[in-house]
Amino acid sequence: MKWQEVVGLIRFTEAEFQELEQFMLSQYGIDLSKKRTLSECRLSAELEKEGITSLQQFMRRMEQDKTKRLENMMLDKLTTNYTFFMRESKHFDYLRENILPTLRQDNTGPFYRVWSAGCSTGEECYTLSMLFHDYTRQGGFLPFLEITGTDASEAAVKGAKEAVYPMRELADIPPRWQEKYVKKLDGNRHFTLTPEILNCCKFRQMNLLGTVPGVAQFDLIFCRNVMIYFSEDARERLIGQLYRALKPGGYLFVGHTELLAWNSAQFQYICPAVYRK
Ligand SMILES: C[S@@+](CC[C@H](N)C(=O)[O-])C[C@H]1O[C@@H](n2cnc3c(N)ncnc32)[C@H](O)[C@@H]1O
Repeated sequence: MKWQEVVGLIRFTEAEFQELEQFMLSQYGIDLSKKRTLSECRLSAELEKEGITSLQQFMRRMEQDKTKRLENMMLDKLTTNYTFFMRESKHFDYLRENILPTLRQDNTGPFYRVWSAGCSTGEECYTLSMLFHDYTRQGGFLPFLEITGTDASEAAVKGAKEAVYPMRELADIPPRWQEKYVKKLDGNRHFTLTPEILNCCKFRQMNLLGTVPGVAQFDLIFCRNVMIYFSEDARERLIGQLYRALKPGGYLFVGHTELLAWNSAQFQYICPAVYRK
């Protein structure tokens, strides 16, 4: 018996993996070139559950599946959804100290629209929502707030909408915000957030390389820790999409490891990982 049969891993042939790699690159911009074993590990159990014995068989079934159930499942397995509240907290400090104080009744429209592009399970959106609410609670001015979270992963978007988090994530939220905005659930095993924090956040499934929100929609875009998984070409396409979606004068935050090596000439560099249109 071969070792891979012992652990139940379905190995991909070179040709099969190339087809998968090409699909993920062309459809989602995700570069799997160095992730063959990881892909095998992440997909094997799911293929087995479907009664499928090879990647080729899976790809053919996925092509015929009009419901996109198999494609969604594959995407959920192959994307990295790791995220947490207050991730890269310097961004939130910068927003609070340098951007929000510039908003005044006489220089903004009636809405402040924020897009978390690649929001995963919602922690980024809810961190922003808590920050904005705390800012107005302390007397700061903010127009009517709308936060849109989008992600290609169906499972991640479902998690974001449900907004029920395991207790271990609570420690990432500052104690002052915990008191005001956190509601403990089911014998303190999980928590959620108060309606004021949840209600201004809307989520939907969206591929950043597909049709994205229209031109000049957003005052602020967070697209953090998404393009690190992209090919160079896909990164450039994504940056173009984000640029179009941002209002003139709006801000783009990217992950701290994603400093724009690409065609950043369009954007004005503000400080590490913060850009302005
Ligand atoms: C590591 S998470 C980042 C979450 C959050 N922005 C943060 O910084 O913590 C990356 C997310 O990007 C999403 N993603 C990857 N490719 C995408 C695409 N083509 N369109 C939309 N979302 C994508 C993944 O599903 C995943 O949830």
